[in-house]
Amino acid sequence: VIPDAGLVVSVAAAETYAVRRRVLRDGTPSDDVTFDADHAETTRHLVVHDAEGVVVATSTWIERESPDHPGIHALQLRGMAVIPERRGLRLGVRLIDAGVALARERGCPIVWANARDSALDFYLAHGFTVIGDGFLTHDTRLPHHRIWRPV
Ligand SMILES: CC(C)(COP(=O)(O)OP(=O)(O)OC[C@H]1O[C@@H](n2cnc3c(N)ncnc32)[C@H](O)[C@@H]1OP(=O)(O)O)[C@@H](O)C(=O)NCCC(=O)NCCS
Repeated sequence: VIPDAGLVVSVAAAETYAVRRRVLRDGTPSDDVTFDADHAETTRHLVVHDAEGVVVATSTWIERESPDHPGIHALQLRGMAVIPERRGLRLGVRLIDAGVALARERGCPIVWANARDSALDFYLAHGFTVIGDGFLTHDTRLPHHRIWRPV
């Protein structure tokens, strides 16, 4: 069965790996496309397929507190990626909306992420705020800032 094109759906972790590899591990020191919480029972991989059933946009939502908001039940967004051919079609926005809806269902008052500086304006335009100083992540050696938004 080919998944309906354009809908945000929840899939197994492995369904995200091709897009993660292509978009997020392109020229980075690590080519590991797995995340430690990929198979946790509470983790959700929310994606969009094209009309052929190929995954074109991915996001992973992990139940984990933010270092900036200790003691607050939160969802961490990781692996946000849209293939180049499908950018600017609001797939990224739809994944954020779906993750925030999931956070609301789970009773999480905030969502957060370690955001690449190259994508910061995307997040700032969609309800997120930067918190703290910039840093490099181990996997990518690219500049990041922590971002968060209320649910
Ligand atoms: C960032 C990313 C996920 C956005 O996905 P997308 O589906 O292209 O974004 P959308 O179409 O939903 O964009 C919505 C709006 O954000 C803007 N936007 C998208 N990417 C942006 C970026 N990198 N910087 C600034 N603005 C951006 C769009 O122009 C659009 O603006 P509009 O509302 O005025 O039309 C996608 O560009 C991507 O995969 N980038 C490479 C990987 C990456 O950086 N991922 C994030 C890691 S933290």
